[in-house]
Amino acid sequence: MDSILVRGNGPLHGDIEITGAKNACLALMPATLLSEEPLTLTNAPRLSDIKTMTALLESLGAEISSLQAGKVQAMGSHGDISPIADYEIVRKMRASNLVLGPLLARLGHAVVSLPGGCAIGARPMDLHTTALEALGAQIELKDGYLHAKAPMGGLRGGVHKMRFPSVGATENFLMAASLAKGTSVLENAAREPEIVDLADCLRKMGAQIEGDGTSRIEIQGVDRLHGATHPVVTDRIELGTFMLAPAICGGTVTCLGGRLSLIESFVETLDQAGIDVTENERGLTVTRRSDHVKAVDITTAPFPGFPTDLQAQMMALLCTAKGTSTLEETIFENRFMHAPELTRMGAQIQVNGGTAQVSGVEQLKGARVMATDLRASVSLILAGLAAEGETTVSRVYHLDRGYEMIEDKLSGIGAQIERIQE
Ligand code: UD1
Repeated sequence: MDSILVRGNGPLHGDIEITGAKNACLALMPATLLSEEPLTLTNAPRLSDIKTMTALLESLGAEISSLQAGKVQAMGSHGDISPIADYEIVRKMRASNLVLGPLLARLGHAVVSLPGGCAIGARPMDLHTTALEALGAQIELKDGYLHAKAPMGGLRGGVHKMRFPSVGATENFLMAASLAKGTSVLENAAREPEIVDLADCLRKMGAQIEGDGTSRIEIQGVDRLHGATHPVVTDRIELGTFMLAPAICGGTVTCLGGRLSLIESFVETLDQAGIDVTENERGLTVTRRSDHVKAVDITTAPFPGFPTDLQAQMMALLCTAKGTSTLEETIFENRFMHAPELTRMGAQIQVNGGTAQVSGVEQLKGARVMATDLRASVSLILAGLAAEGETTVSRVYHLDRGYEMIEDKLSGIGAQIERIQE
């Protein structure tokens, strides 16, 4: 298994390119099941999660080709489509559940394995199923699979209010309602930029959607959707992660393609910690104002709040802040697994349920640490960049799920980082 070796070596300078969003791409790809015509996504990231979604869609009968070394994915679903999303693929990645809505809309039935638990929490599917039931679907659980059936004549428009603004359930609802008969309304919908990106793509395919980016989305169903070409939105989580590199090490780095609107609450927190962020035509330029950052308190929340997917990386920064910071995780119940690993590097962290208290130390120290999930792995790399000596992060397959060429990107701004193949 590969590991990553990082040597802390001071300030970072230069430009770093931000790729298309993994999470947007994972929702856009299943949209190909909604039409017989080709859907082409440009700016698609090259990541193992995208390969997993490719394998899933191919297992359902979609044809997928990558042009330009994986940066563009062209997809088509004109042949026979299978309704069965097998456990063997779904268990690898929870986002596989995003084929449920499209399969149900296209075929009138779907059999999709439940994803099972994942390291950061139980992650049930009830918000997806109740949202689709509002469109007339009947869904039951048999042998670990959700068996979903549309009424005779197909899904019909419906009004539904979610008890929590789930990103995935909003995406499934949007795709299914686009081909339902009549008008659908989703209240308390998720507002993440990836939802807006999916709605933009569906509109290019002929869907009639209004209100995406707000808590109330209205969809007028259409009879068919057609092909389209769509650029995947910038990855705000990769953006925030790389913004933290100069925040932790000092220096000035421009994240090319970054926009404030994607990441406002995070930038406000950085400002409180003593990090300047300016928007310019090339992207976002990040500079640390003084030698030490200040402690800040954060609470994760659905967009536009502080993203849970940046909590681990922010914790790495706060490990060397002046004072004590409180981090409250409200989205996932088990998302502090990076804390004991950071502690091995000299960090002082007390975890109590969904709250972590981080008392800043003068200097982190390099150590052998283990990645436990995608965002936890990158937080350890960030900490390693600021630590004295060498840090080796093992189990980096987690990292390859969500960061394209991370060693090359960080080396490009002066970091000492290399992959060790074992
Ligand atoms: C998406 C992102 C993930 C991010 C998360 C929250 C993708 C591919 N993944 O995941 O990186 O961390 O949003 O911003 O876009 N829940 C239920 N029942 C459900 C569905 C969810 O209780 O049916 C709970 C989950 O357990 C979790 C919370 O709702 O506690 C948020 O989940 P959700 O917004 O659905 O996240 P995902 O779409 O899975």
